[in-house]
Amino acid sequence: MIRVAAVGDIHMGPDSPGLLRPAFDTLPDCADLLLLAGDLTRHGTPEEARVVADEVRGLAVPVVAVLGNHDHHDEQPEKVTGILREAGVTVLEGDGTVVDCAGTRVGIAGTKGFGGGFVGRCAGEFGEPLMKEFVRYTRRSADSLRGALEDLGRRGCDVRVALTHFSPVPDTLAGEPLEIYPFLGSYLLAEAIDTAGADLAVHGHAHAGTEHGMTAGGVRVRNVAQPVIRRAFNVYQLQTEQVPAAG
Ligand SMILES: [Fe+2]
Ligand SMILES: [Fe+2]
Repeated sequence: MIRVAAVGDIHMGPDSPGLLRPAFDTLPDCADLLLLAGDLTRHGTPEEARVVADEVRGLAVPVVAVLGNHDHHDEQPEKVTGILREAGVTVLEGDGTVVDCAGTRVGIAGTKGFGGGFVGRCAGEFGEPLMKEFVRYTRRSADSLRGALEDLGRRGCDVRVALTHFSPVPDTLAGEPLEIYPFLGSYLLAEAIDTAGADLAVHGHAHAGTEHGMTAGGVRVRNVAQPVIRRAFNVYQLQTEQVPAAG
């Protein structure tokens, strides 16, 4: 059994130091690793990134993160990534990492993702170059997620988790205005997850959404945006052994 702690949208700023650290210090008692699902800062400034870095530096469990749209706002995502990495965080964007949890190989594939909407209500690669680029950006992100998940499978991971900021499914957006769904996620991310396979998908971004959802292929999806889960993190359990068939 692997215990995955996850939270997104912690939106830390100058007044945030120490807010989450006491809870994070309890992680070794209840979880094997911590996933951060983006929007770790308010405006993506190096100063805010340093607050996040100090909050997770030296934790006794591995920390794996993706950035969110807020972490891009100051247009220095490389700098934000570098500050987090210096604090020991594995920051993913279109790639994956393997965490060894007491002999179990946990693979995490991550990308920020992007919008575009969901089947029957989605943007298409048509018309103006800007519109095409919008959809292509999401498609590239989804393709990288699929590739990273497939690579983790080839590397013999026992369980695989897809970590994004934007949502792969509309289920976990319930509570958000329908009008903004296309800016909250894309079905292309779910297609990637279902094609490559995963045991859990974790995302943030939808502050007014719902925690529980599922892809069409049956992969559990969890919206861990802090305003949704209303705590420092939630813990999800992943089975690592086959459950014997009944009878
Ligand atoms: Fe957010
Ligand atoms: Fe966001």
